[in-house]
Amino acid sequence: MLEKNLKRFVVAAAIMLAAFWAGVSLVAPVSGQQAQQPAQPQAAAEETMEQKYKNIQALKGLPASQMRAMMNYISASTGMTCAECHVKNGDQWAFEKDDNNHKVIARRMITMTMEINKASFNGRTQVTCYTCHQGHDHPMHVPPIVAPKAPEAAAGAAPKPDEILAKYVQAVGGKEAIEKVKTRVIKGVSVAANGQSFPLEINFAGTDKYTLSVALPQGATTQKFVASAGWLKNSREDRAMDASDIIRAKSLAWSLEPAQLKEPFMRLGSAGSEKVGDKDCWVLQGRLQDGRRVRFSFDKTSGLLLRRVVQIVTAIGIDPEQTDYDDYRDVSGVKVPHSITTSYLDRNYNSTRKFTEIKHNAKVDEALFNLPATKQ
Ligand code: HEC
Ligand code: HEC
Repeated sequence: MLEKNLKRFVVAAAIMLAAFWAGVSLVAPVSGQQAQQPAQPQAAAEETMEQKYKNIQALKGLPASQMRAMMNYISASTGMTCAECHVKNGDQWAFEKDDNNHKVIARRMITMTMEINKASFNGRTQVTCYTCHQGHDHPMHVPPIVAPKAPEAAAGAAPKPDEILAKYVQAVGGKEAIEKVKTRVIKGVSVAANGQSFPLEINFAGTDKYTLSVALPQGATTQKFVASAGWLKNSREDRAMDASDIIRAKSLAWSLEPAQLKEPFMRLGSAGSEKVGDKDCWVLQGRLQDGRRVRFSFDKTSGLLLRRVVQIVTAIGIDPEQTDYDDYRDVSGVKVPHSITTSYLDRNYNSTRKFTEIKHNAKVDEALFNLPATKQ
């Protein structure tokens, strides 16, 4: 099922890195014969590292879906690129090879980090690569000398989580107005990490259901996501989403909902305040059903949500995904952000989506959400 009027996202700069991951997802359905099953997220989510990858010694038993999170995390924590630990065969990555000594050291470091957490922190991810490395390949052994700073002014008493949430729902337009929004058709541009922007179109039809397309110079690139399966298609790939794609797609579906927090609210606790840009925010934090941690920052003045950070906790560190909401404007009685920026440790994946036109409850053709029945 191909829709010619669909285009999709993915920033140009991300394509190169995305290709790394595409290149290694050897277990994604390849043959056209397996067409009936688009994606098998359940099975894929339970796949272990050693089942999916070729030379796993330290990360045995952990979910394969976390590989991307872990490698991005390791790179960001040590300030090292993929190429500083991994080698290539010609122009193909050979991630499984141990020919680079940094990889061998890193493997010992992974084991060490997991052992520290097991022995001293009940197996919780407390000591991470970043704890020691702080973005450097060689950790610093001498603390920097820092001039003293004036203490921060004492903050006023924080409102209770329920009050913050109630104010947010009110600021967005109220429960009733939010619930009336069943579909959203969105047009705008996708601005890549390198500043280039491309026309974008999104069809959103409820939680966990969207199509997203971006017209890139090399051709349309589209993404479809339905519940827990999805499909990616662009000039170089045409395949079912794998488990780690699905984690990102779920986040995107969520950030497209007219209100990020609906009743019944998940349990959230106060986590102080922080600034998002120049705005003072209250922070609430909690856990999603799948165990990921989440933090929300609400503008103290307007009550609106300005930032959401979702963290995947792995055995060696925490991989954050930050979504910033900006440019709130009224659409059919609901205040919705017209700019959504998603940022990762791997900056190549960062992108901003700016919306120029949003229609609520416009008709969205159900056929758009059919995942391809056959490859090609
Ligand atoms: C500091 C070193 C280091 C960096 C930087 C690093 N890796 Fe790794 N990578 C490792 C180690 C160590 C393993 C093996 C883990 C094990 O033995 O369980 C590994 C394994 C992998 C594997 C599995 C290979 C297989 O089939 O066995 C992939 C894929 C991978 N890395 C991709 C990447 C990508 C992509 C990047 C850049 C974003 C990256 N790595 C950055 C150290 C690193
Ligand atoms: C308890 C502190 C600590 C933790 C945690 C830690 N490291 Fe290290 N790491 C070090 C120290 C200290 C060195 C430097 C050793 C040296 O200079 O010979 C080092 C060196 C390295 C090197 C070699 C750098 C080079 O250029 O030779 C790599 C690669 C590395 N660590 C990766 C990691 C990864 C990946 C993690 C997380 C899985 C990690 N480390 C966690 C302390 C730590």
